Amino acid sequence: MKELKQKALELNSQDELKDFRKEFIFPEAVFGASDKKGPSSNERSHLYFAGHSLGLMPKGVRESIEQELEDWQKLGVEGHVHARRPWVPYHENITASFAHLTNSKASEVVAMNTLTVNLHLMLVSFYQPTPKRYKILIENNTFPSDKYAVDSQARFHGFDPSQAVVELRPDRDNGMTVSEQALIDQIKEQGDELALVMLGNCNYLSGQKFPFEKIVEAARSVGAMVGFNLAHGIGNLELSLHDWDIDFAVWCTYKYLNSGPGGIAGAFVHEKHHQRNDLNRFEGWWGHDKQTRFAMGPDFKAIPSVEAWQLSNPPIFQLAALKASLEVFDRATMPRLRKKSEMITSFLEECLIEMCGSSLEIVTPKERGSMLCVRVKKNPKQLLEDLKHKDVTLDFREPDILRMTPIALYNNFTDVFELSKIIGESLND
Ligand SMILES: Cc1ncc(COP(=O)(O)O)c(C=O)c1O
Repeated sequence: MKELKQKALELNSQDELKDFRKEFIFPEAVFGASDKKGPSSNERSHLYFAGHSLGLMPKGVRESIEQELEDWQKLGVEGHVHARRPWVPYHENITASFAHLTNSKASEVVAMNTLTVNLHLMLVSFYQPTPKRYKILIENNTFPSDKYAVDSQARFHGFDPSQAVVELRPDRDNGMTVSEQALIDQIKEQGDELALVMLGNCNYLSGQKFPFEKIVEAARSVGAMVGFNLAHGIGNLELSLHDWDIDFAVWCTYKYLNSGPGGIAGAFVHEKHHQRNDLNRFEGWWGHDKQTRFAMGPDFKAIPSVEAWQLSNPPIFQLAALKASLEVFDRATMPRLRKKSEMITSFLEECLIEMCGSSLEIVTPKERGSMLCVRVKKNPKQLLEDLKHKDVTLDFREPDILRMTPIALYNNFTDVFELSKIIGESLND
């Protein structure tokens, strides 16, 4: 154990992103930690490992929102044009960062709505089933909202979801993850009945990362569309949405992107679809040509980009929070974040194996992002109770799953060591 502690300190000193930690606010002891006596507890921050659920608050967010509050106070409606950052085009402040994070063209990404709303808007356009081609392939362990969304879209088009929505079948021993070959075979198996492959690029529960390029290739070989839900991918994995040639993607920003609870979401539509007249689309005034929007005419003229999918004028305070949090990403950059994330997640795995042994099973395969999903084999509720009282935040899914994520921007290797030690002590008690 001593060696791991030493290794954590060495890795911290070599960490070129270590200064970013200071740009985030760690929560106070959320449940009133009772054990302040351990050797580590006095010297450490709250152990926050729930960035896959809600990212920590970047310090710059408060100032960014306050600027908009001040401008609203001073200018009222004139802020739409005369605010220091005018509100009418405010969402454009996000575009360059989204384009970097996803490796897309600026015309392909936009901040709008929330994740499930955006998923529905994309399904309206990219799920246009026919009696022959009507199936949607989704993950097993799909996040419930994604399943409700695709089921309701199938029903909306007159199909029975139990026929139209097909879930991946896991083929690995843990009963949760799918091998690459099985995934590709299962896409091809659907043949010309498959309308759409709609996967997360990292499963929300198992943490498995999917092989994007191979998925696109397999989907195209049977003539299907491809969409990704990047809720657990954006800010976590390196992406290349334009070159992968997917049709659409959606994401939220409150997890890895740290935009705050209920933060505004994002969407990608590949440029090859921007000028198509044969796609269904739900439309609103914010998707209308910018030069003539305020002429308030009755007929919709689409902006020739993903912005045509916008409906409403967006929430400025949420955009302001997101803008501040993305500035941190612009400086850190995804290649550096990903490099650290691979190291810190592997270190977490090493520490858990060393300190918890067979009391835990690591479900997440090596193809993964930052998150580890582990099955607790012995009294998971007791472990949770212990963690609460030791200033630790991670999350639990019934009946025995713990998810924990070391976030490259704000966690360090000592956090990982301390977390594993606390889990190990509780399990071996
Ligand atoms: C994979 C996935 N899909 C959908 C959602 C739902 O997101 P929202 O409530 O922002 O629509 C979440 C939220 O955690 C998620 O992780």
